[in-house]
Amino acid sequence: SGSGLPLMVQRTLAKQVTLIDCVGKGRYGEVWRGSWYADSVAVKIFFSRDEASWRRETEIYSTVLLRHDNILAYVGSDCTSRGSCTQLWLITHFHPLGSLYEHLSRSALTRHQMMALCLSAANGLLHLHTEIHGTQGKPGIAHRDIKTKNILVKVNGECCIADLGLAVTRAHVAHSTPDPRQGTKRYMSPEALDNSMNAECFESYLKCDIYAFGLVLWEVCRRVRPAREYRPPYYEVAPNDPTYDDMRKIVCTDAARPTPSDDTHPTMVGMANLMRECWHQNAAVRLPALRIKKTLLKLAASDTS
Ligand code: ADE
Repeated sequence: SGSGLPLMVQRTLAKQVTLIDCVGKGRYGEVWRGSWYADSVAVKIFFSRDEASWRRETEIYSTVLLRHDNILAYVGSDCTSRGSCTQLWLITHFHPLGSLYEHLSRSALTRHQMMALCLSAANGLLHLHTEIHGTQGKPGIAHRDIKTKNILVKVNGECCIADLGLAVTRAHVAHSTPDPRQGTKRYMSPEALDNSMNAECFESYLKCDIYAFGLVLWEVCRRVRPAREYRPPYYEVAPNDPTYDDMRKIVCTDAARPTPSDDTHPTMVGMANLMRECWHQNAAVRLPALRIKKTLLKLAASDTS
């Protein structure tokens, strides 16, 4: 609803939105639940120092027809002045269950629920990564900040991928080399941490997403009953808010990775193998998103209980 509006019309969007309550605060700014006529919407309000993220997210959403069940749906962007400061808004659909991080912190999962979350997240990542030719086409997009806090849970039990503030296309990479050290340190790939990646090559960033996605799979699988408590990746070895050097020692020097559950159920064994193929030290042998999706579909089909 409203998503097809031309950008011109969207300049009035903020005036039509009523903010209801703040549902999240972070380094990026705040997220509010709001209403837009009959629709519940989420309003992400960026700190003005992070104008680049607002710009990038708005650009990615509005130059590309990014309509997919497993990617957060865009309503519009607005840039309004409040007194002396500029307020940067990004308006999207609202998902009352919040992020996958919040969902996992609250709830244990059945294997079936785990699979629905992982498959849908993989579907979203595949759509982002895939270049589609033709009039309804899209470029391949690397997310560059895949983590459970940037994935939302829908009431139907599926995920959608959010937060495109660091996303890049091949054209972005060709035009100016992105800094591989952006993104969340805890989820940063070994090649980003030790500066060994080819930062001029678009595909390098897709492989970083796959590494981070492996960590997400681990976080979700840990919550399958009989569940262990929610923990972030590397909780045993990394402090809160780890530094770049903390993570480089853990991920590159020690080549440590999270420990997959020792559940001997074939689905869980398959999930453990899948995460290892995602977070492999050698970026060249990590699975592409299509292969992750196919592996998950196979595991889902053979899980009959
Ligand atoms: N937190 C961040 N974005 C959100 C959204 N779109 N809906 C609900 N909670 C969110």
